[in-house]
Amino acid sequence: MSTTCILAFAAMLPTLTRAADDTVLATTPPMGWNSWNCFEKEIDEKKIQAIADVMVSSGMRDAGYVYLVLDDAWMAKDRDENGRLQADPEKFPDGMKAIGDYIHGKGLKYGIYQDRGKWTCQQLPGSFGHEQIDMQTFAEWGVDYIKLDSCFAESNGRMSSEDYAIYRKHITATGRPIVLSISDFGNAAWAWGGKESAQLWRTSGDIYPWMDSVYACADTSAGDRGIHPAFNGLWQFAGPGHWNDPDMLQVGNLKDLKGDRRNIGDRAHFSLWCILAAPLMAGNDLRAMNDDVRKVLTAPELVAVNQDPRGVQGYKVFNEDGIEVYNKPLADGTTAVLLLNKRGEKADVTVRWDQIGLSGNQPVRDLWARKDLGTLNNSFTARNLGQHEHRMIKVGRPGTPLPMPSPMPLEKYTVTRRGETYLSDLYHIWKARNGPVYDAAFNGAPIAIGGRTFKKGFGCRGKSAFMFKVNGRADRFRAVVAMDKSSKENVEGRFRVYNEDFFANKVLWDSGKMTKDTPAKEIDIELKDVQCLMLVFEGDNALGNWADARVINESEGD
Ligand code: GAL
Repeated sequence: MSTTCILAFAAMLPTLTRAADDTVLATTPPMGWNSWNCFEKEIDEKKIQAIADVMVSSGMRDAGYVYLVLDDAWMAKDRDENGRLQADPEKFPDGMKAIGDYIHGKGLKYGIYQDRGKWTCQQLPGSFGHEQIDMQTFAEWGVDYIKLDSCFAESNGRMSSEDYAIYRKHITATGRPIVLSISDFGNAAWAWGGKESAQLWRTSGDIYPWMDSVYACADTSAGDRGIHPAFNGLWQFAGPGHWNDPDMLQVGNLKDLKGDRRNIGDRAHFSLWCILAAPLMAGNDLRAMNDDVRKVLTAPELVAVNQDPRGVQGYKVFNEDGIEVYNKPLADGTTAVLLLNKRGEKADVTVRWDQIGLSGNQPVRDLWARKDLGTLNNSFTARNLGQHEHRMIKVGRPGTPLPMPSPMPLEKYTVTRRGETYLSDLYHIWKARNGPVYDAAFNGAPIAIGGRTFKKGFGCRGKSAFMFKVNGRADRFRAVVAMDKSSKENVEGRFRVYNEDFFANKVLWDSGKMTKDTPAKEIDIELKDVQCLMLVFEGDNALGNWADARVINESEGD
């Protein structure tokens, strides 16, 4: 990733977003525990009560882990005679209000899982068609946090932005301040404006208890996956009241590391979530937690970095072949720095003060060891780090908060002017599978269709999906599409234009199946109130081109 875009420093303080009831929720990343990563469907009253007890006795609650969230499979197979959700009678014989009372009695907050489809991922009753009564029921049970999943939501016919706004409206109407956590498998909630409805949104698919998965999830928020590399992370979409969520913690669950190595992996995982200002939802069986794991989850100076009131998400200042350096400027004028070696062999990792907005002699503190390391001139080097080893340090003196990098200017990723904007002049905000090649065919050759060469457009290899944030400022979309002439005979491809993500299946244009013998097709469609425009090219290994892909803004001035 280029580090040039972080060189232009500019002071920028995040703005607070308020829920419609005027309560600022989740001013720092939510912290708690969630049942899924260790118990999956096997939850019941006794287990959850025991977890609540341990959250207090282990010091987790006092370290900040206040939300106890019951994930999928707490509910009965059927709604009651009034259409209300009810507890699985065997797992929670006293009902869901009683378990909430128990959780509250321990000085904790009560979180619950539900799904916006007809069914949850475990095929239990979902909230589609019952949005109001379910939010009302949750409020009556004393729920403080809702994780709202997206299984089976494809058949709702609603875009994610519409769907989550409906839930927020019904939550607000209950009068209870409830944190809403978007679980949409990382489908671009930051792009369509998730912060209008929710306090956190998944940036990734599900996390699994091995390091590759931990790193892959971290990289979604850090920006190495799923967005245009120039963004240097999703950091500019996070801040007090709205957080990028690379999924729940697997600290204490890692299966691919043994002995001391497990602790090394746990710490790398935790440091990444802390520097990324990610929600800290522990996912281990707290009843069986050993002291090493407890010390990781409750490490005070690490948690303080995560919970820093300035709410800046750390971003990469160096990233080369598994050597990574992150920077997170803090409210007190110092900055937290993570130096990580993901490589298979040992390495020295250095941060220079000019990479983090500092110079000269600076005090350095080791946040895991909770020890001052003295004053260092110009840089710090973590020597001889093995795989997954890292140092997490704090640099600088208290004072005026350090500047952050400038956020990506709007004109780089959205429509800001009248007339035509070529989409290849914008950075995409989300992608899945194969990303597009800008202004060339997939093999790098000029885009050529029917004897004509196009300077602008995208080359794609199926399957490819990518999204632009057009912010309701594009009135038309125009392009010429054709299979690339280098595509194999008889290979079929298909171009589709979508409004937002796949959930609503809102297809604005569909080429039907094409081969390299199919003549080019022209697209000229109206876009109405489209916030995010997604271009999809299907067909495994098919090569296709979106030539002259552009949007036209007829109404707005410069
Ligand atoms: C998945 C979700 C997981 C867990 C699971 C429950 O969709 O990403 O975190 O909630 O469903 O069935």
